[in-house]
Amino acid sequence: MNNFSAVILAAGSGKRMRSSLPKVMHNLSGKPLIKWVMEAVSVLKPDNLVLVVRRDAGIVKEFLSGSSVKIVYQEEQLGSGHAVMQAEKVLKDYKGDILVINADVPLIKSSTLLSLVKNNRETGASVTLLAAEFENPFGYGRIVENNGFVEKIVEEKDATPSEKRIKKINSGVYCFDENLWRALLKLKPDNAKKEYYITDTIAVLGELGKKISSVIVKDGYEVKGINNRLELSESESLLKKKKIKELSDKGVTIVDINNVYISYDAKIGVDSIIYPGVFIDTGVSIGKSCIIKGNSYIKNSKISDASTILYSYIDSAVIGREVKIGPFSHIRQDSVLKKNVKIGNFSEIKKAVISRNSKISHLSYIGDASVGEEVNIGAGTITCNYDGIGKHKTVIGARSFIGSNVNFVAPVKIGRGVLIAAGSTITRDVPSGKLAVARARQELRDRER
Ligand code: UD1
Ligand code: MG
Repeated sequence: MNNFSAVILAAGSGKRMRSSLPKVMHNLSGKPLIKWVMEAVSVLKPDNLVLVVRRDAGIVKEFLSGSSVKIVYQEEQLGSGHAVMQAEKVLKDYKGDILVINADVPLIKSSTLLSLVKNNRETGASVTLLAAEFENPFGYGRIVENNGFVEKIVEEKDATPSEKRIKKINSGVYCFDENLWRALLKLKPDNAKKEYYITDTIAVLGELGKKISSVIVKDGYEVKGINNRLELSESESLLKKKKIKELSDKGVTIVDINNVYISYDAKIGVDSIIYPGVFIDTGVSIGKSCIIKGNSYIKNSKISDASTILYSYIDSAVIGREVKIGPFSHIRQDSVLKKNVKIGNFSEIKKAVISRNSKISHLSYIGDASVGEEVNIGAGTITCNYDGIGKHKTVIGARSFIGSNVNFVAPVKIGRGVLIAAGSTITRDVPSGKLAVARARQELRDRER
């Protein structure tokens, strides 16, 4: 949408978080609060995206480096209105609407922001507020109306007992026309916190005879503000609840909705079953008819149809169809498990391709490796991939059988159809079809008594 700019307010001291980390860098479902809001705004392609931050919020700046956002500093935390004043440097000659958004409203949707801008234009208002009706409005600014017209916003700390009973709240998202700058000049810090409140621009614009409009958000969930750790956690629960409903509606069974964590971006196919204790972190896609059970943790991975994961940890891996993992497997970055692979108890796979129908069933470490089809790797097999300086590769050809307790000292190449005797330490390549025995011969001696 053209002809609007956005100002995101992220310079607050965030005292209520009681944290050394700026509030906006706290994660909601694995993504910093500021990123949620920035993404929602960016989709609408504003002419300018201005972010107001504290001078000492280096971590926020670092996080945003490379993006097209314009950063301005608020040297002293004198309130949300004072924060908006800092954006004037960038926007004073700008002709168009100005969307002002608190950075602690991460669940806001782009479509809602768009409707706010549209409303401001269509009604010819100087400001449109995004409001919500909350059964428990505690902590929010209340919207005081007179004969159906918005008169002012009062903050919790400044509200009279009857104002505190108002359930229509200010979400901290506003669309202004260019009268914003005039209104900011008239703000006074005469309130409980002795701050310049952006919310006071409403009464000021009213007094200037300007039109004030409001839009009520349909789903209050979108505008839940986060000021402390409990609210952060509550938003996490809300997000999860929504996700579980969406997945359940699409045919996924979540056995115990109170005992799983599923990230907002998870994709799960029909007839998959997610058992209690599962943690699905960001960047996960799971196919149809999968079973994920026990305390499994999955992040950044793709799992294809009909696979089963039991009590396992999977990060940055690609898992094919009908694969069985666990219990207690660790599948690490850049691992690719093809169709019908089985990885069993206490086995660790890293940066390895395991081809179709191969099995690594017990107590093995396979790293920096390529394993062909229908290979059986016996218990306790290790790829010795690291020599203290660099990592080296192990290649095992199709249909080879690796006995238990074998060490592959990489780099090493095993051909196809090879048999490696149990207990071997393989230091040299083995051609296809050979039997390799690389262990001390058993001796029998008389026992000394
Ligand atoms: C604010 C609103 C309140 C609304 C609520 C919605 C004000 C005065 N009140 O209250 O009406 O119901 O949001 O969630 O705005 N900030 C700065 N610099 C400052 C102070 C704040 O940049 O000096 C930023 C914060 O980073 C935050 C936003 O302004 O993103 C609002 O500040 P916050 O302290 O969270 O205000 P609330 O008490 O939540
Ligand atoms: Mg807030």
